[in-house]
Amino acid sequence: MRATRHFLDLDDLSCAELEAVLRRAEAPAANLEPVLAGRGAALVFEKPSARTRNSTEMAVVALGGHPVYIQGVEVGIDERETAEDVARTLACYHAVVCARVFDHGVLHRMAGAIDAAVAGAAATDAAGPDDGIGVKSSPVVNLLSDAAHPCQALADLLTLRQVFGPLEGRSLAYVGDANNVWRSLAKAAAMVGMRLRTACPEGYGPEADDLAALAALGLDIEVTDDPVEAATGADALYSDVWTSMGQEEEAERRRLAFAGFAIDDTLLSAAAPGAVVLHCLPAHRGEEITAEVFEGAHSVVWRQAANRLHAMRGLLSWLLSPGDEGSRP
Ligand code: CP
Ligand code: NVA
Repeated sequence: MRATRHFLDLDDLSCAELEAVLRRAEAPAANLEPVLAGRGAALVFEKPSARTRNSTEMAVVALGGHPVYIQGVEVGIDERETAEDVARTLACYHAVVCARVFDHGVLHRMAGAIDAAVAGAAATDAAGPDDGIGVKSSPVVNLLSDAAHPCQALADLLTLRQVFGPLEGRSLAYVGDANNVWRSLAKAAAMVGMRLRTACPEGYGPEADDLAALAALGLDIEVTDDPVEAATGADALYSDVWTSMGQEEEAERRRLAFAGFAIDDTLLSAAAPGAVVLHCLPAHRGEEITAEVFEGAHSVVWRQAANRLHAMRGLLSWLLSPGDEGSRP
C-alpha cells in the first residue's frame, strides 16, 4: 500500500514531484480526473482566511468533491479533544484533511495519527473486520501554520512561471519578516533554482535551522538588513505583513522594528526593469508596501491570488492521484 502523502511544507515533495504538481495546476481544469467525486474534504480553520478558504473550497468542487468548512472552535483541537482524535475522526469521512493552525506541530501530530491508524488497521483486524470502515488514508494539507504556508508558495511559483517561464537563475528579493510565508517561499525558490535575497531587521531574520534546511536544498541565499541591497537587480520583489496572525500583541513593536522595510518606488526602481511585485495578501498599504506599488503596473498580486485556486486544484489532484492517470491528455 502506498504511504499517505501529507503536504505540511514544500519539501514534503521532491523537486520532480513539485514540477508534477505545478503541471497539474497549469492543466485545464476539465482535463483533471474528478478524484474527489462523491468524497469530502475537511477544511479546519483556527484563524481567519479569505483566499485560502475560498480557493480550497472551489478546488474541491472542481475535482467533484464536497468541502466542509470547520471553524477551529467547533472541533477544539487539544481543547475539546486531541489533535490526533480530531484528525482520525475527520479521516473517517473525508478524502483529505486540510487545516490552518497556530502550531505547526499539530499538523505533524494529525498526520502521524492518521498514518498510525491506517498502519494499525492494515496490520491487524483486532479492531474489527477489514471491510474498509474506519480511518482512511487521508492526506493532511497545511493551509498555513506558524511555520509554513506551502499552498501560498505553490501559487507564487505558478505566478512567477506565468511571468518569466522557467525560473532557474531568476532572482527574488523578499523584504520583511522571515515568517511562515517566507519559509515556504524560500524552499520553493530553492527547489526551482531561484536565487533569494532576504532583507529583514535584526532579530526578525531566518533561524540557523532555516538556513541549514535551505542550504540542504541548495538555495543560493543572501540575508541583509538593507532592503535596497536586496532589491537591486531582482526579478521579483515579495512582501508579507509585518505582524502575522497570532502575533497581534507584538504589532506596535514590529511596526517600529520594520520601519523602512516597505516595498516602495525606491526599491522598485532598484529592481530589474521588468520586475514584478508579489504579496500574499492581506496587505497593509503604508506598512509593508506602499499603495502606489501595490496598485501599480508591476504588481501581480491579483494574478497571484487567483493562482491560489489553480495551485490547490493541482495539489489536491496530485495528492489523491499522483500518477500520470490523474489528468486526461
Ligand atoms: N494569502 C492567504 O493565505 O490569504 P488568507 O489568509 O486570506 O487565506
Ligand atoms: N504571515 C501571514 C500570512 C497571511 C496569509 C500570517 O501568518 O498571518
